[in-house]
Amino acid sequence: MHILITGGAGFIGSHVVRHFLKNHSSYTVTNLDNLTYAGNLANLSDVDTLPNYRFVKGDITDGDFLQRLFEEHHFDGVIHLAAESHVDRSISNPTEFVVTNVLGTVNLLNAAKASWHSDFEGKRFYHISTDEVYGSLGREGLFTENTPYDPHSPYSASKASSDHFVRAYHDTFGIPVVISNCSNNYGSFQFPEKLIPLFINNILNRKPLPVYGKGENIRDWLWVVDHAHAIDVIYHQGKTGETYNIGGHNEWTNIDLIRLLCRIMDKKLGRTSGESEKLVTYVTDRAGHDLRYAIDSSKLQHELGWVPSISFEKGLELTVDWYLSNQDWLDNVTSGGYQRYYDEMYSGR
Ligand code: NAD
Ligand code: TYD
Repeated sequence: MHILITGGAGFIGSHVVRHFLKNHSSYTVTNLDNLTYAGNLANLSDVDTLPNYRFVKGDITDGDFLQRLFEEHHFDGVIHLAAESHVDRSISNPTEFVVTNVLGTVNLLNAAKASWHSDFEGKRFYHISTDEVYGSLGREGLFTENTPYDPHSPYSASKASSDHFVRAYHDTFGIPVVISNCSNNYGSFQFPEKLIPLFINNILNRKPLPVYGKGENIRDWLWVVDHAHAIDVIYHQGKTGETYNIGGHNEWTNIDLIRLLCRIMDKKLGRTSGESEKLVTYVTDRAGHDLRYAIDSSKLQHELGWVPSISFEKGLELTVDWYLSNQDWLDNVTSGGYQRYYDEMYSGR
């Protein structure tokens, strides 16, 4: 079994690569990533010498390159995570999201189609998507697999479009696809532009914590290790052509989450209680900011038996511990272009 994992040097992708290498040692795993600002081979330093791991630096927006790669390797399966993934960046540069997330996904589908020649026995194209395609909930209700798509940000619109292409290639060409839409992930190796690692880094450096709007937006948080496990379950047991929602039944308003994070950080850093929370600074809201995401993952739980393994409080504490023990990783990814990004995103907000 030879699996291609795209975006394996990123946050979730690196956990998926690690999970497959450790739990399916008879598989060959090829990680295809073009190492954007979000991709970092250091994320895989604990597994990258395993004999069944290969890394290929390459760009999914290059269709000819993908055709050659598939001809050379005859992959049995694809787990597609490579994407531009940050909503704020999609507001600054929407086109980049169309090119990577939509065109890149179609290029991969074309390469799989050409390589598999309508012989789909044992083949699988697994597309990793987000709950943000469903739009925004009010105070009540949950996203199910049947919730109509209603994306609001350029990021979620590009992911919605890529999901539609994946389903279209199943319906039109018979490509054996499966899709999952997951809620917000957190954990080790997440680039510090996303809420939790950004705020951990800012608390460490006693920098302001920029809370968008009133901090009342709600997200449903899932530990990334649990997401990687769900991806394994769906890759092996999910039904072709189906969609599975993945989520933690773990809703937090941003401000409650931030207060919890501040309390954990104060304790871990030996600071006086309440010190980190003083860094909270309310800033101009994100344009088109979705109020609430919340996932109904009962299909995945009932049909395939997956459940999250740990509570949010435990997962968040493990996450803080990891960032505190890996400050060289943080320093490394926040050098270079990070400061420019930060200034552009937050100055004058
Ligand atoms: P990330 O930004 O941390 O990583 C993306 C990876 O893709 C990086 O390694 C990057 O180098 C690579 N990449 C980007 N453009 C590429 C290209 N043109 N060619 C090859 N590689 C390229 O993202 P993430 O948070 O790990 O998200 C991974 C996937 O999961 C995405 O598809 C995202 O939409 C989806 N998702 C993320 C979350 C979340 O909370 N982070 C939740 C649900 C779904
Ligand atoms: P983020 O981690 O960017 O994930 P997403 O937008 O995909 O849900 O943001 C999570 C929530 O935190 C979202 O409601 C926006 C908010 N947020 C802030 O308040 N301040 C920040 O600096 C960032 C990055 C996010």
